[in-house]
Order: sequence, then C-alpha cells, then structure tokens
Amino acid sequence: MTGSGVTRIAPSILSADFCALAASIDTVAPEADLLHVDVMDGHFVPNLTIGPPIVRCIRGHTDLYLDCHLMMTNPGEHLEAFAKAGASGCSVHVEVDDTAGLIAQMRDLGLDAGLAVNPETPLDAAEPFLDDIDLLLIMTVHPGFGGQSFMAEVVPKIRQAREALDRRDLDVALEVDGGINVDTAPQVAAAGADVFVAGSAIFDAADPLDAARRLRSAVSPPTGERG
Ligand code: DX5
Ligand code: ZN
Repeated sequence: MTGSGVTRIAPSILSADFCALAASIDTVAPEADLLHVDVMDGHFVPNLTIGPPIVRCIRGHTDLYLDCHLMMTNPGEHLEAFAKAGASGCSVHVEVDDTAGLIAQMRDLGLDAGLAVNPETPLDAAEPFLDDIDLLLIMTVHPGFGGQSFMAEVVPKIRQAREALDRRDLDVALEVDGGINVDTAPQVAAAGADVFVAGSAIFDAADPLDAARRLRSAVSPPTGERG
C-alpha cells in the first residue's frame, strides 16, 4: 500500500448482510478504496466473526484491496492462511506478543503490514515499529463489536501519530476504526487520519453507496480528488 495522505474509505463488512455478502460488496465497491475485514477470535475480543475461508470467497469475487484487521491473540498462527486466501494486508494488534516477529512474517508472506492500537494503549507502544509498517490503525472504540460510539478522547493520539509519521517522513497510512460517520470523521481527518473504516454508518444506511459517498465528502477538502 502506498500513498499515505490520500483520503481512503474502507467499508467494514462486519455490518454487511453475511447472507448477501457479494451483493453488499458490489453495492459499495464504487466508493470503496479498501474493504475492511474484521477477524475476531473470541479471545482477544469477546466475539467471533470470520476467517480465511470467507476471505478466499471475497477474493474470488472482487479485486478490491482486502484490509484484514486481526483481533486475535495468536495472529502468527494464521497469517499464512490469510495470505493464501488473498488478503492484501493484515493488521495485528500491538497488544499481543512479538510485534517485530509478526511484522517480519507479514513481509515474508508478501502482505502489507499493519499495526493496530487499542484506545487505552499509548502510541509509545507502536512508535518503535513505525519504520517497518505500511498502515497504523488507531482504534476509536474498544474492538469487538460494530455500532459502538466514537471515543473522542482518542483524537489527541491520532494527532500524535500523524506528527510522528510526518516527523520521520514515513509513507504509512493512518487508519481510524470505530464509530466513524459523517459527524465524527471530520475531527479525525483534521487530526491527520487518511483511511476511514466505517461499518454501521455505511451498511446500516438505507443507501450504503450514498452513505459511503457522503462519508468521503465529509473528509475531503472541496478541491480534493479521490486517490
Ligand atoms: C470493531 C471493528 C470495526 C467495526 C467498526 O471492533 O474493528 O472495524 O466494524 O464498526 P462501526 O463503524 O459500526 O463502528
Ligand atoms: Zn476493524
């Protein structure tokens, strides 16, 4: 993944109709720069969702970038399966052990390497790895469920992350995830985020494509162009 600083919309299929996943993806595809795939293991977070077989199905259906968010205690045991299933990039949580080893493993597998940071985790935990990743995912809810309220107290950390990346002149996408909608997205955009994950704000809307379009407008400068 290249092109940090370009506004990107990442619909999260967690809020899509799993019985009509292909149709749901097709609906939002014209406004989707990435497709966000939430993988939950029932251990790192108290919920279970989907795994590599579904990613393989999605990959067979679309060429969209598949941004797999691994909310897992042992992501290292599954990275190869995600790579083989057609994931474009994976994000592992900095709260689990062996971040350096996991990043190296993602690189070896040809995956873009992402690092996710929970709301209560300071940026310091991710700082040592910023040179080695493609994407930094700042959680703006406690991970585990869609449809939660945005945590405004995380905004200073997003600003801090933007400053750290700019100071080191790093081409790392800065992604925000959780409670992102047309009301909350402008403040995270102003703080420096450039990839906007949205589940319920898009898929729970009567018109998901229009919702994605409105989200893009909310975070794009009037003269901005889609990257
Ligand atoms: C939460 C997930 C999110 C979730 C966001 O644990 O990581 O990606 O899908 O859903 P909304 O946009 O509804 O907060
Ligand atoms: Zn997510």
